[in-house]
Order: sequence, then C-alpha cells, then structure tokens
Amino acid sequence: MTTGIYDDPWAYELACSFRDVRAEVDVLLAWCAEHSGAPVATALELAAGPAEHARELARRGIGATALDLNPAMCAYAAERAKFAGLDVEVVQADMTAFDLGRRFDLVVTMLDSTSHLMTLDAFTAHLDRAAAHLADGGLYIVEMSHPKDRLTDEPSVGTAWTVDRDGVRATVRWGEPADRLDPVTQIADDHVTMTIAEDAGEPRVIRDVVPYRFWTATELDAAIRLSGALAVVARYGDFGDVALADPEAWRMITVLRRARPS
Ligand SMILES: C[S@@+](CC[C@H](N)C(=O)[O-])C[C@H]1O[C@@H](n2cnc3c(N)ncnc32)[C@H](O)[C@@H]1O
Repeated sequence: MTTGIYDDPWAYELACSFRDVRAEVDVLLAWCAEHSGAPVATALELAAGPAEHARELARRGIGATALDLNPAMCAYAAERAKFAGLDVEVVQADMTAFDLGRRFDLVVTMLDSTSHLMTLDAFTAHLDRAAAHLADGGLYIVEMSHPKDRLTDEPSVGTAWTVDRDGVRATVRWGEPADRLDPVTQIADDHVTMTIAEDAGEPRVIRDVVPYRFWTATELDAAIRLSGALAVVARYGDFGDVALADPEAWRMITVLRRARPS
C-alpha cells in the first residue's frame, strides 16, 4: 500500500487551491467557442485527480467525465461531486490506454499531469487515446508547465507556496533544489513536503517523492507528429491571451483537434 500526496486527495486538492478553477474553465470554454464553434455538451478530464475542472464543467450543465489511475483520487472525485449534487462520471483508467466507447466535445488534461507520461511511446499513446475520444469539431486542451521552469535559471513558478482554506493552513514544497533532471531520461524525482496546520493539534506532514518527466515544446511537437492523430490549433502561455514565447508566459497550453475525420 503506497501512501503519498496522490493517496491523500483532500490534501492534494488543498495544495492546489491556489488555482482559480472557475476562471480556468471560463477560459477553456472561451477557447472552445473561438476554435471549435461547436457547443460543449460533454467533457472528459484526464488524469483528473480530484476532478475540480470536471466538477466545474458539470456545474455548468456539461456532461462531465473524470478519469484517473489512482483509486483514492477516483473515490474522492466521486464523493465530492455527489456532495455538491453534481453528476460527474468517474472512471479509473490509464490515460495511455482507455476506451470509454464514446466521444466528447472537450477533453482536457490540467496542471502538467502529462509529466506522468515517462516515455515518448507513452505520450503518443496518450495523444492517440485523447484523439479517439474527440467528437467532430472537439478540442483536446493540454496544460503543461512552461519549459522555462526547467530549461532556464528564471523559472516562472515557485516550488514553495502557502494556502489557507477553511481555517486550515498548508505550506507546500513541490521540488527541492537537489531534485535535478536526469539529463538522459529528463526525469526528476521531485521531493514533496506538505505541512498542514489546523486550529488545534500538531501539524500533519506528508512527504512524498513524485517522479516528474520534463517535456520540451519541441518534444511535444514531435509527439503530436508521431501520433499523427491530432493537429495544433493554438498555443498559449497562460489562461489568457499570452503567447507561449512571451516573457510573461508561465504555462504551456496547447489546443488540439483531430487531424483527420473519424
Ligand atoms: C498533478 S495531479 C493533477 C490532477 C488534476 N489534473 C488537477 O488539475 O488537479 C496528477 C494526477 O495524474 C494521475 N495519473 C498519473 N498517471 C496517470 C495515468 N497513467 N493515467 C491516469 N492518471 C494518471 C495521478 O493519479 C494524479 O491524480
């Protein structure tokens, strides 16, 4: 039995509560309107973890499905959706090898979850599967970290932050200076420490080592070409209108559509 940050979905969600999920979903749907035009009636979130985006999509009346490999994450996502009165289908499956037997108007993978794809074969298999689940006119939007975070001395995001939610304060370190990328595999073992302090009692500390596979922009292009199932529609450097190459860019977000009709 493993225990780690992904085995404690409540803690993981708390750690990631610096995000404005509603605002991100606003932008995802605006990109769909801009680049697809087709209304979004169904959406699939891959490597969804607690499925915050799937829940927000469901809140807007979209038929939402969340897929994750980790059973604890799946159980938590289903429980949170039910608690909120939202209809979110949760599927435990591998994002490189799933077949849900139907297609979606929007498929998303958020917060650099593709860093869990360790090899080019895994990445292309993932792209193939995402493409196979896109409806006509549907979009696959994948949010990755900006390559400057690992390729330059001026990363755009910090590896340490603090969040406060519902009287709980958590300090998070996701990566330590010694967590270097292996220059051959481009994988780093990121050391994660999360300290959770509630009003009373001793703080709880979660320690984990999360393998992280770094993908460059050119490798992403190569994986897309190798798959052949998807074509790039647009690229963004944040959840707004910042270009990927802009100095202000801090994410690598790619909007894709099926390369050929089904
Ligand atoms: C960084 S978390 C991100 C969760 C979510 N995307 C979010 O925005 O909060 C990464 C998630 O990827 C899941 N994951 C890792 N490898 C996976 C795989 N091969 N297939 C499906 N999910 C996977 C983990 O279980 C974890 O929940």
